[in-house]
Amino acid sequence: MRYRELKPFPQGFLWGASTSAYQVEGAWNEDGKGLSVIDARESYPDGTTDFKVASDHYHRYREDIALFARLGFKTYRFSIAWTRIIPDGNGEVNAAGIAFYHKVIDELRLHNIEPIVTMYHFDLPQALQAKGGWYNRASVDAFARYANVLFDEFGDKVKYWLTINEQNLMILQGEALGTLDPKLSTQADKKKNLYQQNHHMMVAQAMAMRDLHTKYPHSKIGPAPNIAVIYPATSKPEDVQAAFNYNAIRNWLYLDMAARGEYNTLAWRYMEEKGYTPEMMPGDTEVLKRGRPDFIAFNYYTTQAVEASRGDGNDEVVRGGNKLLKSGEDGVHRGAANPHLPRTQFGTEIDPVGFRNTLREIWDRYHLPLLITENGLGAFDKLDENEEVQDDYRIDFLRLHIEQMQLAITDGVKVFGYTPWSALDLISTHQGCSKRYGLIYVNRDEFDLKDLRRIPKKSAGWYSEVMKNNGLSD
Ligand code: BG6
Repeated sequence: MRYRELKPFPQGFLWGASTSAYQVEGAWNEDGKGLSVIDARESYPDGTTDFKVASDHYHRYREDIALFARLGFKTYRFSIAWTRIIPDGNGEVNAAGIAFYHKVIDELRLHNIEPIVTMYHFDLPQALQAKGGWYNRASVDAFARYANVLFDEFGDKVKYWLTINEQNLMILQGEALGTLDPKLSTQADKKKNLYQQNHHMMVAQAMAMRDLHTKYPHSKIGPAPNIAVIYPATSKPEDVQAAFNYNAIRNWLYLDMAARGEYNTLAWRYMEEKGYTPEMMPGDTEVLKRGRPDFIAFNYYTTQAVEASRGDGNDEVVRGGNKLLKSGEDGVHRGAANPHLPRTQFGTEIDPVGFRNTLREIWDRYHLPLLITENGLGAFDKLDENEEVQDDYRIDFLRLHIEQMQLAITDGVKVFGYTPWSALDLISTHQGCSKRYGLIYVNRDEFDLKDLRRIPKKSAGWYSEVMKNNGLSD
């Protein structure tokens, strides 16, 4: 629909940006921190750094937050490292870890920046992983206890909580995100194990939502999966149906459970058909029904197109020459490229209109307020001879997405915040620190830490105006 006039962003809209602990903090073994699955990794893709120093935010958080304040951040979405709070996942609480996050939160409040806290962003304690990770039911109780430690410590200071970052990608891309059990040999066993992990995370998340509401009825909590609508590659009814299927498996399985406390019917049928249905414990159904989110947060990067399965055993297709972007599953749907979309330097399709489509779809399904916790462009940014980063491509990317967000608001969707990825340069999940997402440049290379100086990019100046004006002015 084309509108004569757009609705403005709501007053008090939470503009800011996002990071996660292991990608930005460094100090991997300081002040009693335990090892996470990230720290325990034995190898990294060729030519990419480890996460030991990252952007050294642990030591520079004051300087970073002062810079966020100068740019006009209204909010900052960051994650707490479980292993700083409870080094072995479920044992002693580490006072130094608690003290660190009190300092971060206090510093944000001092600058009138609203903290949005992710409780768990890919960095499971290695001690839990060694006992089977999320496959082991004991991880559910460990997470619930960790969540309660966080609520008891920070509940008076933090109003917005996010449970688990991108749970759906931990299941769908288990190999890349470390949830896939390498000891299992068959594809069927691997997937069955992943869907059991998924069930445990669902129960753990529901417990956290339930407990926050009991302790802090006025605080807000939500899930933070990666959601993007799936397109049919053509208008062939079979392709349209494949898109329905994959939407259920990729998106609605996670949000139906978080928002309604029930398994999505199609996704459940998929698990039954493939033999992946999880084992449930008595009481799970009640816990899942009881834990309810106040909002839905989601990360949006790009959409995907799919075709009907050809039944030839080759439905999994690599999109954009990047094996991290593989999609398709034999007998379910076939991955397809979308010829209508440009791509980033890393092969990811850029789809701002898909952002509006996704916002509308989520709103229509759940009628819960929406928060966009990640959206951004990874690029090989370079400092020029004037010590500036001319990242006009990132400005274009953000502008197009913010325009579409405003159109979605005009469509009637309730959106209350936007925290693109990332506040400052950090280490990408798999492509090192040369794949930069930040508004603020961090002066380091893959293996040369240089001086880790912070330099706001051209996009930071531009986004600062957006935050100040509560929207785009041109
Ligand atoms: C999201 C994650 O999947 O995308 C982040 O929540 C991640 O942790 C971001 O960094 C960008 O992906 P990547 O693989 O380019 O780092």
